[in-house]
Amino acid sequence: MKELPIITLDGPAGSGKSSVTRNLAEKLNLTFIDTGAMFRVLSLVLWEKFERRPLIEKQSDQFIDYLNRQKFEYQPRPEVLVAVNEVDYSQKIRENFVSGITSDFSQLAWLRDFCVHWQKKIVQSDKSWCIVEGRDTGSVVFPKAMLKFYLTADSEVRAKRRLQELQEKGLADGLALEELREQIEQRDQNDQNRKISPLQIPPDAQVIDTSQMTYEHVLMKLEQEILKKVRTCSAKKDSTN
Ligand code: DC
Repeated sequence: MKELPIITLDGPAGSGKSSVTRNLAEKLNLTFIDTGAMFRVLSLVLWEKFERRPLIEKQSDQFIDYLNRQKFEYQPRPEVLVAVNEVDYSQKIRENFVSGITSDFSQLAWLRDFCVHWQKKIVQSDKSWCIVEGRDTGSVVFPKAMLKFYLTADSEVRAKRRLQELQEKGLADGLALEELREQIEQRDQNDQNRKISPLQIPPDAQVIDTSQMTYEHVLMKLEQEILKKVRTCSAKKDSTN
């Protein structure tokens, strides 16, 4: 089976994968594909226009048609930027209410198809190694990725990290830790139990529990594994030339 020059990093909300992936991409000059940002912007745009109708109505044609008429942009560098019709949505998609609606909207098969198509288009048009972060990137979207990781941590630790992240961005808005932990567990339930592309550990992924690890430790471990893989690949390439 031909493997693709792609690294996937999946895991539940708050497992630390976003900031680790961003840092690795920067350090190792990889293209960062933040699939959560893509699901967030698609969900938000639908919600702004139709509120909850896409979740209720069986017929999806008008919603897909609406998405097709919008101009979505994703730029991995220097910071992840998502824009819709030239309007920057990068900040707005991080708001806590968007996390909730995205968990619901991302259960829709047609929305996942739209998003996966977008993800593949970006990866195909990029010549460098890509690091893709999400929930199903190693299991469903890029099963032939060269290297797969699954990051996890217990829900208490994840809630603390998420709260700190929201506070730093000024988006915590009076949120209590306990409330956030409940929301995270609810999203885990949604993400793990949905019928299509649930959050799952790819069989060939390295599982890393970050509950007791420092951020620097996680980063160092992943960096070592990636460099090892990239070197093996270049060595293989050289010996076949
Ligand atoms: O990683 P995140 O918190 O930005 O993801 C937001 C939501 O998007 C999350 O509830 C699950 C969904 N998602 C998904 O279903 N599949 C992905 N590959 C990425 C995110």
